[in-house]
Amino acid sequence: MVDTKKVKNNNQTNKRPIGVFDSGVGGLSVLKELHKMLPNEDFVFLADQKYVPYGEKTKQELIKLVYKITDYFIKNHDIKMMVVACNTATCNAIAELRSKYLFPIVGTVPAVKLASKKTRSGTVAVICTPSTSKSVVLKTLIREYCADVEVLNIGCKNLENAVETGELEGLEVNKLLKKYLKGVVNSNTDHLVLGCTHYPFLKETIQKIVGPNVKLLDGGKAIARRSKSLIKSNFLVNKQRKVGETLYFTTSDHSKFSKVATLLMKTIIKAKKIKL
Ligand code: DGL
Repeated sequence: MVDTKKVKNNNQTNKRPIGVFDSGVGGLSVLKELHKMLPNEDFVFLADQKYVPYGEKTKQELIKLVYKITDYFIKNHDIKMMVVACNTATCNAIAELRSKYLFPIVGTVPAVKLASKKTRSGTVAVICTPSTSKSVVLKTLIREYCADVEVLNIGCKNLENAVETGELEGLEVNKLLKKYLKGVVNSNTDHLVLGCTHYPFLKETIQKIVGPNVKLLDGGKAIARRSKSLIKSNFLVNKQRKVGETLYFTTSDHSKFSKVATLLMKTIIKAKKIKL
């Protein structure tokens, strides 16, 4: 077990950054909300693009990858907290992460609990990666919180790739989305959970396909709220007055990441490549 609490909470400790990671640019949809909710915090964002997609990896492979990332964050950035901005990594490895590292770790799980509370038609759907779709965590959430609700659990291959390449609309992505959303369109689904952090960037295209009566839900805001509350309860608030800074890293092509991230975040982003 790595004891990251050995430094006492003090001003110096609180100035440490928060680590945020995903397999790729999808995690930026979470980072956006974190920036809004925690404007004075510093962040380090890592896109593990050498291994994207995570959605087709096994649990064991994912555990290995997230351990490497967390060790990198600790050794190179001395993070005070970590946000797993990836449903796939959370559903497959959050328990292992929490048992190995002692600092607060916020995960991202598909918002099926919220969807089941909000539904009026009694049918909701979740789109996510194949690995999240098959995970025990998602199946347990559905069993525990959606007992009286029909849940369409739809694993989607390759959808994250559209976002990775910045193709948020157009023929290819439309074709793919229409295939995966067929069951949603042909049912009385009234809430559709975006269970992969890449998908909020496809919101407009998805909404056009499912129509205005289906409400899209993603976890970004809830994750940011949870992060804020954990920072407070662990006495880790960064008291600096200036707006925090974010450093961006990728394990693959840094110019490709920077280009797509700049498009998605609507601000100029320059990333560095690192080797884990
Ligand atoms: N963005 C990730 C998620 O939320 C995974 C995408 C992928 O690499 O397959 O699940």
